[in-house]
Amino acid sequence: MSVLVENKRKPLEDWSVESWRRKSVRQQASYPDSKALAEVVDRLSILPPLVTSGEVTRLKKYLAEVQHGQRFLIQGGDCAESFSDCTSPIISNRLKVLIQMSLVLIHGCRIPVVRVGRFAGQYAKPRSADTEIRDGVTLPSFRGDIVNENDFTEVARVPEPKRMLEAYHHSAMTMNFVRALVDGGFADIRHPEYWNLAWVKHSPNANKFHDLVEKISDSINFAEILAGREVKNLSNVEFFCSHEALHLHYEQALTRQVPRQSGYYNLSTHLPWIGLRTNQLDSAHVELMRGIENPVGVKIGKETESDHLVDLCRLLNPHDEDGKLILIHRFGAQHIETYLPRLIDVAKKAKLKVVWCSDPMHGNTESTSNGYKTRRFENIRKEVEMSFKTHKINGSHLGGVHLELTGENVTECLGGARALQEADLSKAYTTQVDPRLNYEQALELAFAIKDFYR
Ligand code: PEP
Ligand code: CO
Repeated sequence: MSVLVENKRKPLEDWSVESWRRKSVRQQASYPDSKALAEVVDRLSILPPLVTSGEVTRLKKYLAEVQHGQRFLIQGGDCAESFSDCTSPIISNRLKVLIQMSLVLIHGCRIPVVRVGRFAGQYAKPRSADTEIRDGVTLPSFRGDIVNENDFTEVARVPEPKRMLEAYHHSAMTMNFVRALVDGGFADIRHPEYWNLAWVKHSPNANKFHDLVEKISDSINFAEILAGREVKNLSNVEFFCSHEALHLHYEQALTRQVPRQSGYYNLSTHLPWIGLRTNQLDSAHVELMRGIENPVGVKIGKETESDHLVDLCRLLNPHDEDGKLILIHRFGAQHIETYLPRLIDVAKKAKLKVVWCSDPMHGNTESTSNGYKTRRFENIRKEVEMSFKTHKINGSHLGGVHLELTGENVTECLGGARALQEADLSKAYTTQVDPRLNYEQALELAFAIKDFYR
């Protein structure tokens, strides 16, 4: 699977896998047992990598195509993966919904798609406060399964270094299953029974989707009759993985040199990204990410100043490469028109090489009167629509979308074809942190994206 392209570039002189320690460290757990922490980091440092440098290089090439408008990026998955959701149906349903969404775009827009899951490592969460108070009791915040447990008890909330090893193992199990499914022809377009979600037939979008699958099958049949042989490689669907590179000890332990390549690779994932809360110029996260060969994402929002954007891009793309840097913007539907044009203009003037990607989730979060964190489908749809339009008007283009979604039938976001109401949220609200699009809403959004793209 791996492509051995020799990379002879010298690592940055003033950077090492530890140089982040001299910078401002934010959003980290405070581990009570530093010896246990060091032991886990040592162990992690010698365990095999989860991805290969060849795969990372291939993804960077695909992202360069995204940057040049020749490919579209779909990045999606849970807000926070959990160890308990590392099960066969949950993993395969998430792949199914990503396959279905990509088919809608490939067929509707005639553009190849690169699929990147928010999975196999999305276990660390930034929090707005270090502690959480409930009924007068104050405990450390839940920072994701890689750090502590979500239960609101003193024992559960203690940061436990061993959980990093568990995160590594669950990431490896997830990647192993994804690779096995893909190699076994799970995504073969001739066999929708493998990758079709059973409940698609009850969905308001069912007819649209089945028409599409039929049209694709017809085209393949036609091509095969014309060619007088089977069309090869139809099962060759690739998935890449990504997560927020938040846990600095974990990310450092998986950042390595590999034989026959110069430079360092973060081999915990293909595409690490930096969250909005850790994207400052003096940030330890920016420091660790600026020295690696992987493509890197960075979240930006309405608080991102023009100078900051330029300096950040120069830091994170030191060799001015294509396909290296993804700016994932998240403004909220009602703010995007105000804030995005300035950033596009600045990027153009500074000749920054970037992929623009819209995260229509994180600027559209709200709370209901009955205490649920939710998002309205309509706002999500609107932000994607405005992303396409704003880029076009300003002489740029949107390369992809970054979504929180699941292949399960959850009730976490309001609206969509089934018009989920506030009263429906309690029916199947299972997310650990942020509300996700369910499979139907995700598919509905894919159809909308196809229309916006066209
Ligand atoms: C996230 O992607 O789950 C997240 C926390 O996003 P942001 O950094 O944009 O707030
Ligand atoms: Co989130």
